[in-house]
Amino acid sequence: MRVFRIAAVLGLGLALLLQSCRREPSFTEPQVLGGVEVAPEVLEQGKWVYRRYCTTCHGNDGDGKGVTAFGQWPPPRDFRIAKFKFAGVQDRGLPSDKELRRIITQGLKGTYMRPWILRDTELNAVIQYIKTFSKEGKGFRSKRLKVKPPQIPPDPYDTEEKIAAAQVLGEKLYHATFQCSSCHPAYVKAEKFTEWEATIRAVDPFDSVPKYSENYRNVLLPPDFLRHDMRAVRSHKVDGHLNHRVSDLYRSVAFGLMGPMPGFGHLGADDVWAVSHYVKMLADKKDTPEGNALRRKLTQQ
Ligand code: HEC
Ligand code: HEC
Repeated sequence: MRVFRIAAVLGLGLALLLQSCRREPSFTEPQVLGGVEVAPEVLEQGKWVYRRYCTTCHGNDGDGKGVTAFGQWPPPRDFRIAKFKFAGVQDRGLPSDKELRRIITQGLKGTYMRPWILRDTELNAVIQYIKTFSKEGKGFRSKRLKVKPPQIPPDPYDTEEKIAAAQVLGEKLYHATFQCSSCHPAYVKAEKFTEWEATIRAVDPFDSVPKYSENYRNVLLPPDFLRHDMRAVRSHKVDGHLNHRVSDLYRSVAFGLMGPMPGFGHLGADDVWAVSHYVKMLADKKDTPEGNALRRKLTQQ
């Protein structure tokens, strides 16, 4: 009898639990997200997609604390802050759907965020749904903030000769003018800095400096382009080396990563293109004998 009673209590408990899940508030009214009205049916579908595919990492409440989130580095994004690293947005803007679509379908290399293959309607719905996690009056639920798609001007370095010149200019911009090597490694020796009348970082100049990010609440490592994957720079293999897409580099360098790295776009588009070509040249050498030889040369006294 006792066994039956326990079973009955457990059964009732389970039924109540299921009932409470079903009773969760659903969307009945349209919502204005990033200045655009979104229909409740779209948000309902988005919630379904999210619960199915995204919840385990990003959490039911979008706080980035899903059951599999613990121990992940970098940790899954907390959608409540409405800040995105790779969407090409600066402080006072919101990412466009197009940029979010790119990130979700391509995934972020070297993290647990994989490329997602979803139907168009599902993809659009889940994008709208993650916007609802913004805090009241903030992020996508703010009346002031506007969606700002990144404006990428054409690349002026469009011939082999011009690219070679851009790489030379980019090397100096990287180390001396923009001081990328205050966080990322330096790829030239101290003599070169002296020639440019610039200073080389005193501690471990050929290594990255880990940076604590307030927005993302964790320590991030600026990639060493000869050794690490970049998250949102598309690449494919040709003739035994990677070929990186320079416009993806331009986006991150011009607009920054919303916190851990500033944007450099205000310093002039042509220079940002030049430094992007320089970084591409380094990244294309990753895991090649030439790249390994360059690293060895830098670290040998
Ligand atoms: C297995 C874990 C995992 C799952 C499942 C997952 N993500 Fe992510 N996601 C991550 C991690 C980790 C990051 C943070 C990467 C970083 O900061 O570099 C991230 C970041 C993001 C970002 C922010 C990108 C930026 O530029 O800041 C978006 C948007 C995103 N995920 C959407 C989704 C959507 C939509 C789904 C479901 C279709 C999903 N994720 C499923 C792990 C996951
Ligand atoms: C204040 C420190 C800092 C400075 C200065 C800085 N970066 Fe970064 N950068 C970072 C950090 C931190 C990351 C890694 C962010 C992450 O993956 O979460 C990063 C990532 C990158 C990425 C990778 C983007 C991706 O898709 O993963 C590129 C490319 C990059 N930086 C280029 C540059 C260039 C070029 C400069 C100079 C014009 C520069 N950075 C200056 C801190 C910095």
